[in-house]
Amino acid sequence: MEIFRVNGGNRLEGSARVQGAKNSVLPIMAASLLARGTTVIHNCPRLSDVDAAIKILTHLGCGVAREGGSVIINSSSVTRHDIPHELMREMRSSVIFLGAVLARCGEAVMSMPGGCELGPRPVDLHLDAMRVLGAEITQDGGSISCRAARLKGRRVNLDFPSVGATENTMLCAVCCDGATVITNAAREPEIWDLQSYLARLGYQVHGAGTPAITVRGADVSGDTEHSVIPDRIAAATYLAAAACTGGDIELTGVTPGHLAAATDALSGMGCRVSGGHDSVRIDASGLRRAIRPIVTRPYPGFPTDAQPPIMAACLQAEGTTVFVENIFENRYRHTDEMKRLGADIRTEGRVAMVTGVKRLRGAPVVSTDLRGGASLVLAALMAEGVTEISGIRHIDRGYDDLAGALRSLGADISRTVTA
Ligand code: EPZ
Repeated sequence: MEIFRVNGGNRLEGSARVQGAKNSVLPIMAASLLARGTTVIHNCPRLSDVDAAIKILTHLGCGVAREGGSVIINSSSVTRHDIPHELMREMRSSVIFLGAVLARCGEAVMSMPGGCELGPRPVDLHLDAMRVLGAEITQDGGSISCRAARLKGRRVNLDFPSVGATENTMLCAVCCDGATVITNAAREPEIWDLQSYLARLGYQVHGAGTPAITVRGADVSGDTEHSVIPDRIAAATYLAAAACTGGDIELTGVTPGHLAAATDALSGMGCRVSGGHDSVRIDASGLRRAIRPIVTRPYPGFPTDAQPPIMAACLQAEGTTVFVENIFENRYRHTDEMKRLGADIRTEGRVAMVTGVKRLRGAPVVSTDLRGGASLVLAALMAEGVTEISGIRHIDRGYDDLAGALRSLGADISRTVTA
């Protein structure tokens, strides 16, 4: 079994470039089905979720190749419209292929994405939106079958600004007759990136970043290239790592505006944060103090994915910080593991109270999910002695060589295999 072994106490210093956004590249890979040509995606991170998406595209009949930091997808001939269970289960967000497969093939068959470590992951908003656009959907046990002899543009209102449901609706709508207006749409930067990719292909999509997105159906085929936006959650994770160690680092290849909620929280803790056009610097050499409540909300609110890393930065801050997790039901599983390192955390439902402690001590801990696992690595950077972190396959889903990046900044972390 592979683990991370961390010897805590090193202060992070230096500069690192941030990976391309996982939550942008995955929907764009699904959208490449609607190119009916060759798409080259640059700034593509090396992640197991990207590998899973490559397997799905290959299964559907696309030609896919990876060249360095780029992925090349030829979707000229898609020969299937089903995604088998074993491919669906490899990636929690594989439901993002639903809209694109339905739009391209007129039908789509896939299994329900199982619940994940964060709690149930329902897809009712996705399916309701597909029905409004003309799909007939049957669910039999764990599988979903969608058929649409004809997709017609309509107004689709989302009860919740779901990121995935917004993306699936956009991808289905580009092949509808007429215009679709999505209201109460998610406003995350990854939605804007998807819109910009679709626009490069020649589709008429407008409004990403606002609650109303308009899509005009079109018959498009062509080749294009697209560079994925920086990963704002990976960036927030590295900034939190610097805060954990009292370090001083600069991140390059970032979009500072996408990081505002996380950098505001870190500034509130007493870190000095400054930004350039595509860089951000954090100097955390001063005393860290507790901050106002961290309440997760849809973008531009505080991102749920940054909750675990920012919590790690609070473990030795002076005072008590309150967290309220509004997006996922079960996103505090990392707290039990943090307590094994000596953290003082009390959770009750959606609320977690984190009181800073003087010392954390290394111990064996288990990653329970992607961002929770990363937060354990950050806590281990502060702990005295050695921490061994297992379950790192969760971390590999969303971070491109997390250990290597932290080592380049001075962390004593290695990836090893244990019996
Ligand atoms: C995306 O997941 C991200 N994943 C998540 O990142 C992120 O945490 C989430 O958006 C919120 O920002 C990708 O983009 C691949 P949602 P998604 O639909 O689309 C409920 C990470 O760590 N809901 O906005 O699945 C749902 O249960 C991952 O990188 C329904 O009830 O998120 C959740 O409580 C984790 N019915 C809330 O909405 C639905 O049909 C937010 O879900 C869909 C969602």
